[in-house]
Amino acid sequence: MSSRLEAEHLYKVFGRRPNEAVERLRQGADREELRADGTTAAVIDASFTVEPGQIFVVMGLSGSGKSTLLRMLNGLLEPTAGHVRFDGQDLTALGDRELREVRAQKISMVFQHFALFPHRSVLENAAYGLGVQGVPRAEREKRAAEALELCGLAGWEKSWPDELSGGMQQRVGLARALATDADLLLMDESFSALDPLIRRDMQDQLLQLQQTLKKTIVFITHDLNEAMRLGDRIAVMRDGRIVQTGSAEDILIRPANDYVASFIQDVDRSRVLTAAAVMDEDVHGDEVSCGCETATPDTPFTELCAISARLTHPVAVLDPKGKLVGRVPKQRLVGLLGDQQGEPEPCDNPRGTRDGKVIANA
Ligand SMILES: Nc1ncnc2c1ncn2[C@@H]1O[C@H](COP(=O)(O)OP(=O)(O)O)[C@@H](O)[C@H]1O
Ligand SMILES: [Mg+2]
Repeated sequence: MSSRLEAEHLYKVFGRRPNEAVERLRQGADREELRADGTTAAVIDASFTVEPGQIFVVMGLSGSGKSTLLRMLNGLLEPTAGHVRFDGQDLTALGDRELREVRAQKISMVFQHFALFPHRSVLENAAYGLGVQGVPRAEREKRAAEALELCGLAGWEKSWPDELSGGMQQRVGLARALATDADLLLMDESFSALDPLIRRDMQDQLLQLQQTLKKTIVFITHDLNEAMRLGDRIAVMRDGRIVQTGSAEDILIRPANDYVASFIQDVDRSRVLTAAAVMDEDVHGDEVSCGCETATPDTPFTELCAISARLTHPVAVLDPKGKLVGRVPKQRLVGLLGDQQGEPEPCDNPRGTRDGKVIANA
């Protein structure tokens, strides 16, 4: 079963004569031009594919169209133009009843404020989506309890929502979404209201759960660091358009335009980049041994900078067998860091030899 999600040239225009507005957008008009007529182009020509098991993050400032895009993915909003396909089915072609069915069976949504029912227990809250699916009570409670356990809430089943901390309440919302076994998880700023530490915790938990659950996830955030932590792929939105789609590395190393470049200035690169992402690949595959320090493809960025600072030549990147797979020029790191890097201190043995072999391209 394929649970791939595809968005094809999606548009959402609010206001009068939306189809006319789409035509103008196709001919290159932008949001501002339409706004003059009192029309809002919330989403403009959005296309992407999310493979099963991937976390696809949509990142952009407030008002860039993220929530509108997400609501089209589960059919809560009808696109003005374009198609949404999930699991081989064109959601945009379904009638209301079929759409409700798909939404109940295959799609779960997690919002920023989970809106737990205050007069229902944690267990009943987690079982809510299963109730909508018509799952009988005993099974509902069993599956809800399993989902709560996955989210670290075993033992809290009989509690009331207001007995839980904010972070725990978010977990109940996540458990509710997981309990239904939906293949597609849509998360709209789900962690944005949490304190930074709890937020980190939830991000870790989601990544950990995803290793076994392998859902198709679309996660919305306005926080680039969160996007980089969670996203297998990231789409950056601006004024209704997706301006770049790529991995965290792609976006950091090759920002598509000045807007993205200015956005990523504050990103903590050390958490994202590894040697493999920043090195020049070495096509010769020479055997090297080096008297100086070397890196491996998964050496984190900060460590790489530290190594580079002790060398005067590029850092050699060796695979686990000791084969040279790439080099990282000092200038590359300096470029990615901005002005944060100090003067290098040369190592003792910049053109070092060991076992009688000269090191790579000192
Ligand atoms: N129902 C609506 N009617 C009119 N305009 C809307 C509606 N929903 C959203 N918008 C407008 O569409 C744009 C994108 O909104 P939204 O998708 O909520 O952005 P985000 O989630 O990125 O903050 C905004 O300008 C917003 O005011
Ligand atoms: Mg929003």
